[in-house]
Amino acid sequence: MKIEASAPSNIALIKYMGKSSATSNLPANPSLSYTLENLRTFVTIEPTTGEDCWESLHGFQPMELSEIGLKKFLEHFARLKVEFGVHGFHKIRSANNFPSDCGLASSASSYAALTKATWELAVKTSAVAARDENAHDLSALSRAGSGSSCRSFFSPWSIWRGPGADKVDLNLRLLHAVVVVEDQKKTVSSSQAHQRIQSSLLFTQRPERAALRLEELLPALRDGHWESAFEICWNEFFDMHAMFETSRPSFGYIGHETLNVIHRMRKEWEEREDGPLITLDAGPNVHVLYREDQIDLAERQMHGLKAIKSWG
Ligand code: PMV
Repeated sequence: MKIEASAPSNIALIKYMGKSSATSNLPANPSLSYTLENLRTFVTIEPTTGEDCWESLHGFQPMELSEIGLKKFLEHFARLKVEFGVHGFHKIRSANNFPSDCGLASSASSYAALTKATWELAVKTSAVAARDENAHDLSALSRAGSGSSCRSFFSPWSIWRGPGADKVDLNLRLLHAVVVVEDQKKTVSSSQAHQRIQSSLLFTQRPERAALRLEELLPALRDGHWESAFEICWNEFFDMHAMFETSRPSFGYIGHETLNVIHRMRKEWEEREDGPLITLDAGPNVHVLYREDQIDLAERQMHGLKAIKSWG
């Protein structure tokens, strides 16, 4: 019996950075994300003998896992098996439908897809009999593997402010593009970033700032106050990157090219008083979000850039 599942990635507009519990990935502050339906991880699970193992799934971009990455992924599977009462050993195959060398984090989609697939396995093998797991519960379980993965269970908007994430209805669909500035692996992983920012003086009151921005961003998005949404998102990603740069030891991802791109995107706001939402993850690549009526602007701004687009 072969189980197949997939899950999307997501981009946070209010960032999860810093943990209140490092062992179970509980966040220091609430976060809000847009789900990137076109950037997905696919997972298959089949019975095997000897021990649980992983390999890259054929038919997609070949995937590599570091020794630590592999250990973490298989530990998450082991935890889920215990939770769902699944027995026996399995071969997990997984891969992304986006290039793994483009510097885009895939831990959110990978862990969400593995959690979904293991749940399917439990249902198919009757391990979970009458238990009816809902998306919120699966999201909370996925969180233990990768915090940001818990937001990938809801679309298009997901809010995370407890053990698991939930859907939030903003009645708004966006076009997304990520400008690939650098395609190298990050030197400081997001797990390390969560730890290091605790040494920044800016981490003081960071949870309060993030929570306040969330409370302002939700109505701005819901009620179409687009400029206000842009300003909040701009402040928010710089807040996170400022913590990186003021950690001890400091680290950072924003170089010339990233600055070039974000300033180019912001120019539209300066010249026409309208433009896209701009955000950065813990990396140098630039995520740009447009309203659906801004498709011409989106095409114009992305022209000539190395970008992965959700449209066209
Ligand atoms: O889920 P993690 O531990 O990879 O942390 C992700 C943190 C950010 O991507 C930087 C922000 C976020 O909310 O996704």
